[in-house]
Amino acid sequence: MYELLKRDGLAKRGRLHTVHGIIETPVFMNVGTAAAIKGAVSADDLKTIKTQVELSNTYHLHVRPGDKVVKKLGGLHRFMSWDKPILTDSGGFQVFSLADLRKIKEEGVHFHSHIDGRKIFMGPEESMQIQSNLASTIAMAFDECPSSVADREYMTNSVARTTRWLKRCKAEMARLNALPDTINKEQMLFAINQGGIYEDIRVEHAKQIAEFDMEGYAVGGLAVGESHEEMYNILDVVVPYLPAEKPVYLMGVGTPANILEGVERGVDFFDCVYPSRNGRHGHVYTNRGKLNLFNARYELDDRPIEEGCKCPACQSYSRAYIRHLLKAKEMLGMRLCVLHNLYFYNTMMEEIRNAIDAGEFKGYKKRKLDGMAGTEG
Ligand code: GUN
Ligand code: ZN
Repeated sequence: MYELLKRDGLAKRGRLHTVHGIIETPVFMNVGTAAAIKGAVSADDLKTIKTQVELSNTYHLHVRPGDKVVKKLGGLHRFMSWDKPILTDSGGFQVFSLADLRKIKEEGVHFHSHIDGRKIFMGPEESMQIQSNLASTIAMAFDECPSSVADREYMTNSVARTTRWLKRCKAEMARLNALPDTINKEQMLFAINQGGIYEDIRVEHAKQIAEFDMEGYAVGGLAVGESHEEMYNILDVVVPYLPAEKPVYLMGVGTPANILEGVERGVDFFDCVYPSRNGRHGHVYTNRGKLNLFNARYELDDRPIEEGCKCPACQSYSRAYIRHLLKAKEMLGMRLCVLHNLYFYNTMMEEIRNAIDAGEFKGYKKRKLDGMAGTEG
């Protein structure tokens, strides 16, 4: 159940009640595709860095170790020792971006595993069954994420099929939640809006899925090659057609600036690989811009990544030391950068929530963006 606590302009401050606890929104979900945050980050670490929701992928876990294995071991929460909310993406997006030789039909998608090439079929029912076996807190509907350059005709047909798939997802989830051996009988299901950059197709699809009375609504098919301005425009156009009394999730987004712009347009949930991926490459976020710790200027820099940061990296280690670890390819170097970056994102979300509570989101956003636009030495 979602409580809309406050609005500041279009920005929403909310609270999603789940069987695994409360999610305060706006929130950034920390991406652990294969039930692990890349960079040797443990579930214990996630608690120290203020993670509220972990995100994993249906497709990856189905291929390895197999959702039936995870179910036998008590579900994803128990398997990875994380008792707070988990959202699983449906596999739709990953099948389209990763798998080989896919064939889309009304019943679902035929493709080959990117691990061992074996043939797999996934449709709405299979995606729901896998996510039910994983027993995540929130499951995502099985959608097609069409190419950003798909033409109008392709997009119209694709979106219509995604709506028919949503109907099947909802029915299958209701059936699975009622089975006696289902681990999470209160698994939530979010729908996904598609339509590329065609405003009218987006709006028509938003109206259709709004009628399904879902527990949340995602905007998918963005950050796939279009410009930031096009993405913000689609949010301006489509969010007003999604139910305000439900959480809105902008999938796969994004930079701190993208998140601030999304919040301003009414988005509650975000996820992105940037903080962990950038961290693994020694790129770290600060309130005065991003640093590349491989840079020679940090060789003798005894300061933490960011003065005053309470993350595990900044509490104990200098830029010079972390630079040395990165250059020596010591795993600890990556790990510290990833911890700092996720802490930076999670802390920004906390600041955003506080700013909305205080009715001063606009001022906060401007100060944050102005600060990050700088370059620090
Ligand atoms: N992750 C990022 N974009 C998308 C999308 O359009 N669909 C799904 N299922 N996941 C995504
Ligand atoms: Zn830090």
